[in-house]
Amino acid sequence: MDHQVAPPLPPHVLVFPLPIQGHVNSMLKLAELLCLGKLHVTMLVSEYSHSRFLRHTHVHSHFARYPGFSFRTIPDGLPDDHPRAGERFMEIFPSLKSVTGPLFREMMIGTNFLGTGTRRPVTCIIADGILGFAGDLAIEREIPLIYFRTISACSFWAYFCLPQLIEADEIPLKGINGMDLPVKSVPGMEGFLRRRDLPSFCRVDEVNDLQLELFNAETRQSRRAQALIKNTFDDLEGPILSQIRTHCPNLFPIGPLHAHLKARLAADTNSSSTYSSSFWEEDRSCVTWLDSQPSKSVIYVSFGSLTIVTKHQLMEFWYGLVNSGQRFLWVMRPDSIAEKDEGQIPVELVEGTRERGYMVEWAPQEEVLAHAAVGGFLTHSGWNSTSESIVSGVPMICWPYFADQTINSRFVGEVWKLGLDMKDTCDRVVIEKMIRDLMDVKKDEFQERANHMAKLAKQAVSENGSSYCNLDNLIKYIKSMIE
Ligand code: UDX
Repeated sequence: MDHQVAPPLPPHVLVFPLPIQGHVNSMLKLAELLCLGKLHVTMLVSEYSHSRFLRHTHVHSHFARYPGFSFRTIPDGLPDDHPRAGERFMEIFPSLKSVTGPLFREMMIGTNFLGTGTRRPVTCIIADGILGFAGDLAIEREIPLIYFRTISACSFWAYFCLPQLIEADEIPLKGINGMDLPVKSVPGMEGFLRRRDLPSFCRVDEVNDLQLELFNAETRQSRRAQALIKNTFDDLEGPILSQIRTHCPNLFPIGPLHAHLKARLAADTNSSSTYSSSFWEEDRSCVTWLDSQPSKSVIYVSFGSLTIVTKHQLMEFWYGLVNSGQRFLWVMRPDSIAEKDEGQIPVELVEGTRERGYMVEWAPQEEVLAHAAVGGFLTHSGWNSTSESIVSGVPMICWPYFADQTINSRFVGEVWKLGLDMKDTCDRVVIEKMIRDLMDVKKDEFQERANHMAKLAKQAVSENGSSYCNLDNLIKYIKSMIE
C-alpha cells in the first residue's frame, strides 16, 4: 500500500465501533479526543446507527468544528426493522462478519484506504476489540492496529481468562446449581468472584456454545493489536489493569471518557459543552421535573439500550419502586418490554407514580446523573452507565442483564462498595428494601464512598492525572507510527 503523502499531513485514524449505542457513545468520545489532539479521524458507523443519531441529535453540527473529522457509514447487514436488542442482539455478530466484513474490505481497498489529497490513507485503525474482521484487514495490509475494548477492565480480564476457566472446569456453568461457589481461575479476583458473577454467556451447557466461543475467540485475539485502549482509570481498576498488562503491555486506560472529553474541551475551548449521540429522542422534560425535587431524593432507573424486561419483571420493579416510598425517574424505552399487554395498570401503581414518579422513553442520562436531585441509580450495570454514575458520585443498585454486566455489578457491590448487587433476583420485596437501604438507611456510607471515587475519577482526567497522561501518550504513539 502507498503511504507516500505530503509530510505535514497528520496521522489519519479510522475509528470503528460495534454499531450499538453503548459502544458508539464511548468511541465517538474517543474520536473527539483524537481530533482535539490534532489527528485526522474517520468514524465508521453503521447506516442504522447513523440514521438514528441523525434523527435525534446534533452530532454532525458538533463535529463540524473539526475539519479533520468525517463520518463514513456501512451496512450492519440487518434489516431496518430488526430489534437489535434483548436476545436478538446477538444476531448482529454473524451479520457483521458475513456482510459488513467484506464491505469494509472493499471500502478500504477501493478508496486507497480513505486517502485523499488532504488526508493520508488511514495510518492506524482503532477497532472495537469485538470486531475481529477489522483487525484481520489491518494485519493483512500492515496498518497499525489498536483495539478499544469498551467494557470495564474487570470484565475484559474475566473474558480473557475464559480458557483457564474452561480448563479448570469452572465453566460452562450448566444450570443454576453451585452458583455461589468461588471462582479460582481469574487471577486477582479469587477472593470475591462467584460463579454467578461470571459473564452471562458462561451460563451454558456446552463448551462449544456459540456465544461462549464468540466472546472467547474475539477476546483472545486482542493480543494481535499493537495496543489496547480501555475506558477506565488506574485508581478504579489498577490491580486488574496490571493483570491485563502481563498479556497486553501497551495498555492505555484513558477513561472515564465522557469526563475526559469534558475536561479537555473545557481546557482547550473554554466550553465543556458536549453533545448527545442518542439513538432515541431525549425527553428533557425529566430535567424540569428533577429541578423541582429535593436534593438527592430521586432514584434514577434505566436499563440501558439493549435490555428487554418481561411483564413480570416490570411489575416487580414497579411495585418495588412505589412501595419504597422514594421518588423515582424511570426510563422505559419503547422497545424494552417483552410482551405487549393491554391489561390495566393496578391503581396503586398509577397513584404512586403520579405522586412520586416520572417516566420517559429516553433521558439525557449524563445530565440526569449529574443532577443534584438524583441520589441513586437502579442500573443494568452497562459499562457506560456505571462510569457515568461513578463520575457523578451516584451510588447504584445493580440488576445486570447480560454479558459483562454481571462482573461490573460484583465490582460495584463487593470491591468498590459503591452500591448493592441485586443480581439474579427480581422481587418487589428485595427491590423495595434495597432502594430504602441505598436512599435512606445506608445513604451516608454509600454517598461518602461514591464522592471519593468521583473525586478520583475527575483527578484521573485532569492535567497530569493518569488517564490524561495516558491519552497524551496514546496520541504521541499514533503520531510516532508515521515517523
Ligand atoms: C451494554 C454494555 O454496557 C456494554 O458494555 C456491552 O458490551 C453491550 O451492552 P448498553 O445497554 O448500551 O450496553 O449500556 P451502557 O454501556 O450503560 O450504555 C448506555 C448508554 O446510553 C449510556 O451512555 C447512557 O448514558 C445512554 N443512555 C441510556 C441515555 O443517554 N439515555 C437513557 O435514557 C439511557
